[in-house]
Amino acid sequence: MIKKIAIEELQPGMEVVRLSSEVWEHLPFLYTEPGPITSDEQVDRIRSEGYLHAFIQTADAEPMEKKLDRLLTERLRTPPTKPRVPFDEEIRVAEVAYKNAIGQARRIIHDVKLGKKVDYEASVETVDNIVDSAVRNPDTLLCLSKLSNYDEYTYAHSINVSTIAVVFGEYLGMSRDELVQLGIAGMLHDLGKTAVPSRIINKRARLTTDEFDIIKRHPQYGHDILKRQEDIPAEILDAVRNHHEKYNGSGYPRQRTKDEIPPFARILSLADVYDALTSDRSYKEAILPNKALAIMYGMREQDFDPLEVQMFIKCLGIFPSGSLVKLNTGFYGLVYESNPSLPLMPKIKIILDEDLHPIPSELVDLAAEQALGKKNLEILECADPASYKLNIRTHLTRRN
Ligand SMILES: [Fe+2]
Repeated sequence: MIKKIAIEELQPGMEVVRLSSEVWEHLPFLYTEPGPITSDEQVDRIRSEGYLHAFIQTADAEPMEKKLDRLLTERLRTPPTKPRVPFDEEIRVAEVAYKNAIGQARRIIHDVKLGKKVDYEASVETVDNIVDSAVRNPDTLLCLSKLSNYDEYTYAHSINVSTIAVVFGEYLGMSRDELVQLGIAGMLHDLGKTAVPSRIINKRARLTTDEFDIIKRHPQYGHDILKRQEDIPAEILDAVRNHHEKYNGSGYPRQRTKDEIPPFARILSLADVYDALTSDRSYKEAILPNKALAIMYGMREQDFDPLEVQMFIKCLGIFPSGSLVKLNTGFYGLVYESNPSLPLMPKIKIILDEDLHPIPSELVDLAAEQALGKKNLEILECADPASYKLNIRTHLTRRN
């Protein structure tokens, strides 16, 4: 992967690459002498000459296409075993990262509408925090992505796609740099919609064929907007351009199939469809997370690569974090931590009695309860929080 670095980060052992003149003409203080950096003296000399940036070939030379296949196969055999920070400890930190990311998404759209550039450095910083949180406890971000308000859909959707994609990438074992790029691609995936007339974007009635043809150009528009600036990596441009392509070639704008679709775009597509299905919009109600995943499983070999959608479902769990579930006692609980090895037995916070009256919340680890033979608690089904006029956010972020 080619990566832009600040000159302070340059070290012996790195390989500097020279990109086309269009790039370095925009970056007058770019060091462009191609070749390996062999000594500290060489680094000192380059710095003293006043250069500010360089593009380097990172050691991670395995092509992403191959790497994704390898990660999927490895994860199919062995579930992740990383230790996680407890949910209650992480949720407040995650909430700050998530809110900041929404703010950044809003600024990006505002800037692009004014003809300004996307602030890539600020986007990296924002997504860095999302990645940190996903590594510490991915369930917190998944919960937050389920709680967004549909009035803010445009911004929230881009951040949800970003966070869901990062959580899935982290589950698969992608590197930190890859996760940041994937997260930024998620944040920018629908940027091209700023170039589509708002009367079409906001139309509530069914779109005409001509209008839909215009909408279908937004991945290409997004790519073209971002390509104008020199600092957006090619992987992000490719992901944006291909996020509506489908496994069987029925997507748009270029009807790419299977391996022709870049890996980041395939992951964005899973996150995009999952978030769209599970979000409330002014014209449609959200589909419950477990039902959305079942629908997506039915889209394997059409929209999605079969192994990729299978692993996506495994990552999110049968009862994804943020789901409201009905228990065999008649009480209701919120899933706040999935259990990848026993997906039917996540950790839940019981919050409502059988008459839907709020009760002092009780944290229950269904797997631990069963192991101790203490209670015979079971999840009967997912329930729709909207039907109970339930504000899940207050329950999740409140200390017990
Ligand atoms: Fe899109």
